[in-house]
Amino acid sequence: MKNLYIINYTFVYCFQFVNHKQLMSFVVSGEMTVMFKNYCHPTAIVEQNVVLGNNIHIWHFTHIREHAIIEDDVSIARDVYVDKGVRISKGTRIQNGVSIYSGVQIAPYCFIGPHVIFTNDLRPRAGNKQWSMTMTYLQMGCTLGAGAIVKAGITVGEYALVGAGSVVTHNIPPFNLAVGNPARVKAMVCSCGRSNLPLDTPRLELLRDCCYENLNEDAINHVKEYLMSVINH
Ligand SMILES: CC(C)(COP(=O)(O)OP(=O)(O)OC[C@H]1O[C@@H](n2cnc3c(N)ncnc32)[C@H](O)[C@@H]1OP(=O)(O)O)[C@@H](O)C(=O)NCCC(=O)NCCS
Ligand SMILES: [Zn+2]
Repeated sequence: MKNLYIINYTFVYCFQFVNHKQLMSFVVSGEMTVMFKNYCHPTAIVEQNVVLGNNIHIWHFTHIREHAIIEDDVSIARDVYVDKGVRISKGTRIQNGVSIYSGVQIAPYCFIGPHVIFTNDLRPRAGNKQWSMTMTYLQMGCTLGAGAIVKAGITVGEYALVGAGSVVTHNIPPFNLAVGNPARVKAMVCSCGRSNLPLDTPRLELLRDCCYENLNEDAINHVKEYLMSVINH
């Protein structure tokens, strides 16, 4: 039985591969012991010193490197590579074949389509004496379509939607829809992503009837919380 000892800000976690199918986690906090359950396919590799939350699904052949942080309710599909120190925040969905390199930070409830490509070195060379990592930020609720490429140093704003196959070379503002190579902003989108809207749409109109039809209650609450925080600023 393999034990992984994982340090979080407030807790010491001990993970045990109980039967190669289930990743059980035990959280010890003062006198209380709470047990969480996650699912990890037997072909997946989770290295030591990974911080894992609750209700996480990790599928076939996925590799999570040390010091990655995977928060609650995250789903990571097959053939995904999560590099050292990457943070994947709660509720995020990562589709097949995505490589997420060090320097990529993912806020809650993002959707990363299949085979999205991230980068973290703007001027790579074999034989460089040193390299500097450039950070990339996915803000809350944003979506990257299948096969999108994200240049290092980019911020994709809250609830922005990047079309399939786009090459993102500039920051994408919140709720903007961007497509193409290079990705250009075409419109705004509502919270559920179904409606294209004019670029000057007021924030209060970004949560519409279609969103209430298509998003679950949790998702609606997260959007509301975000919109209220921006409006109150
Ligand atoms: C970006 C997107 C949301 C736009 O959808 P839409 O508003 O229905 O767009 P339409 O199909 O009506 O196309 C409108 C125009 O944008 C273009 N367009 C649409 N998607 C595009 C894309 N990804 N890249 C470049 N151009 C795109 C169309 O060619 C069309 O151009 P035209 O007016 O010159 O003919 C959709 O095409 C997309 O890429 N979704 C992501 C799907 C995905 O990757 N899912 C991952 C999980 S499976
Ligand atoms: Zn909507």
